[in-house]
Amino acid sequence: MSKKVGILVGSLRKDSFTKFIAKEAAKLFPGGIDIEFVEIGHLPFYNQDFEDPATAPESHTAFRQQIEGLDGFIFATPEYNRSYTPALKNALDIASRPYGFSKWNGKPYAVLSVSPGAIGGFGANHHLRQVLMFLNMNPVQQPEAYIGNVTELIDDKGKLNSKTVTFLQTVVDALVAKL
Ligand SMILES: Cc1cc2nc3c(=O)[nH]c(=O)nc-3n(C[C@H](O)[C@H](O)[C@H](O)COP(=O)(O)O)c2cc1C
Repeated sequence: MSKKVGILVGSLRKDSFTKFIAKEAAKLFPGGIDIEFVEIGHLPFYNQDFEDPATAPESHTAFRQQIEGLDGFIFATPEYNRSYTPALKNALDIASRPYGFSKWNGKPYAVLSVSPGAIGGFGANHHLRQVLMFLNMNPVQQPEAYIGNVTELIDDKGKLNSKTVTFLQTVVDALVAKL
């Protein structure tokens, strides 16, 4: 049966560099693996009151079902104040609940942190990994992907430099090996 990989992008910005890098990574999967970009920007903030099915927003229920149907993930995030973004945290929290029914449990993932800055979103990457560890997910440990100085990696025609593409391929391959 073919595998499905979900890509969650922490930036909601239209011209997001992180989304750009995530789309480049999406092109590098082998045939037979379906790639799905998972929208997270429309999700209301998680509220524990919503665990009563009578009050759960439809979008939360649909999101949980979508995550349940996916076999692995790329989490691509910018760095916000040395952490990852609230939109992504909200998405993780929603599908982690109700308690005991997390949709993330055991699934493989790779993290891509992306920044115009030199240290490539290291803080975001590691905060995110800490949470995913608690969610009992299965990480691609190596290679670690800190995509720094991102504006310098894209030429004026919008093409990503070939060294970065080659590097992203190693990340994708490591995730595919875990599916
Ligand atoms: C609230 C906020 C906090 C930020 N904090 C950091 C930071 O800690 N480290 C960093 O490298 N860049 C930081 N930036 C700059 C982002 O890396 C930059 O805006 C980037 O383009 C956002 O990613 P995107 O292009 O995918 O939307 C911050 C930006 C915002 C809006």
